[in-house]
Amino acid sequence: MSKIKTSYFCQSCGYQSPKWLGKCPACSAWNTFVEEVIEKPNASIPDWKAASQSTSTQRAQKPQDINAINYKEQSRIQTSDEELNRVLGGGIVPGSLILIGGEPGIGKSTLMLQLALTLNGHRVLYVSGEESDQQIKMRAERLDQNLQSGECYILTETSTQNIFKQIEELDPGIVIIDSIQTLYSAHIESTPGSVSQVRECTAELLRFAKETATPVFLIGHITKDGMIAGPKILEHMVDTVLQFEGDRHYSYRILRAVKNRFGSASELGIYEMQGSGLREVSNPSEILLSQRDEPLSGVTVSATIEGARTMLVETQALVSHSAYGTPQRSATGFDTRRMNMLLAVLEKRGGFKLGMKDVFVNITGGIRIEDPAIDLGLVAAIISSNEDIPVSYKTCFAAEVGLSGEIRAVNRIEQRIAEAEKLGFEQIFISKYNQKSLDLKRFKIAIVSVGKIEEVFGYLF
Ligand code: TYD
Ligand code: MG
Repeated sequence: MSKIKTSYFCQSCGYQSPKWLGKCPACSAWNTFVEEVIEKPNASIPDWKAASQSTSTQRAQKPQDINAINYKEQSRIQTSDEELNRVLGGGIVPGSLILIGGEPGIGKSTLMLQLALTLNGHRVLYVSGEESDQQIKMRAERLDQNLQSGECYILTETSTQNIFKQIEELDPGIVIIDSIQTLYSAHIESTPGSVSQVRECTAELLRFAKETATPVFLIGHITKDGMIAGPKILEHMVDTVLQFEGDRHYSYRILRAVKNRFGSASELGIYEMQGSGLREVSNPSEILLSQRDEPLSGVTVSATIEGARTMLVETQALVSHSAYGTPQRSATGFDTRRMNMLLAVLEKRGGFKLGMKDVFVNITGGIRIEDPAIDLGLVAAIISSNEDIPVSYKTCFAAEVGLSGEIRAVNRIEQRIAEAEKLGFEQIFISKYNQKSLDLKRFKIAIVSVGKIEEVFGYLF
């Protein structure tokens, strides 16, 4: 009788070890090793035999001259969801494996069901291991009825072998898996969601996608620190990784490409979660700016670029005397470490005494901004709150702040200025290093170019 073969896997990165370890040598995580069965006892075909069979049926590949390889432009599948098309780099590439991660309840299943219901001309198979078919039907009823024009099939199954059997019968054009952590393959004995199961199921789906040129969407859970649950190798195996994020207390959701073999990885799609599903937001600036007609202290607007799109976002800051010994610093929608750096710059170069004050910063709309061009707007909001002097609501900012208080240039400045002008702003602060390459006569908006942080305060306060 053969023995059950087990191995230990790090649940955070997938590192394999023959014995239990307290600390993972690969990712340095503590206490993440779990024993998993990697081979069934008395497996019907021993591994070596399966291996030799597969090599005998596979056509051996020969090296080819790169000039001799014919390249056919793959026609992408256009979905009716413009935001999704954009994030994927212009539609779905046949045979691609796309992973969508996001916190529970953010709307991953809704997004995918909406895609399944509206995709015209392609049969979609929506495989769910999380909800029953009645629950999915209930959700579909909630969504906008006029949108539902596609051919969509629901399968509630978690065994990959059974899923492939159904796929063979149905012959779908697109497969959606909700979620990869619920699937299990009979080739591996460990529980669904474990590293080896997730890896095996993904590998099987990858083979299926590539061999039949069928795109496969995988929904993936994320861990409490925001990483996609399961081995890191999962992200390497798939072609595209999308993150669906947003603040639960707001209705805006952002779909961000983290990795994309077929397009730019900085693309962004914006949705609004409504009572009847997700609605695309094609002009984000207009909703991200709150309606106001009188200036408030601590509020500024910055012209940021995420992906190919300009967005005007509002930054709110509150600076107050710390009631306790240790001042609090908190940033929502912005990197806290970067905020601390900017506060240090203000302290040292601007001469503002913020060391004993609480500082809270918030990007409105619940979105997260990584574009450094928001720096100047953020700094201006902090000082505006500190001095309690409002910045005119017709003023916009677009520049990075360096460690020595210098105002640095940002990319695609013309696009930012044009957006600010379009939305009725009368003045924009940019870096003087950006101004050199700029045709000022093109714009009606007043452009103030600055080189040092003190100059900005001279203008504003
Ligand atoms: P869901 O897609 O189930 O999230 P995930 O699959 O990422 O866990 O989203 C569920 C949330 O979305 C839930 O809190 C209810 C809300 N929702 C709406 O607001 N409107 C809708 O039309 C639907 C279907 C869901
Ligand atoms: Mg779900």
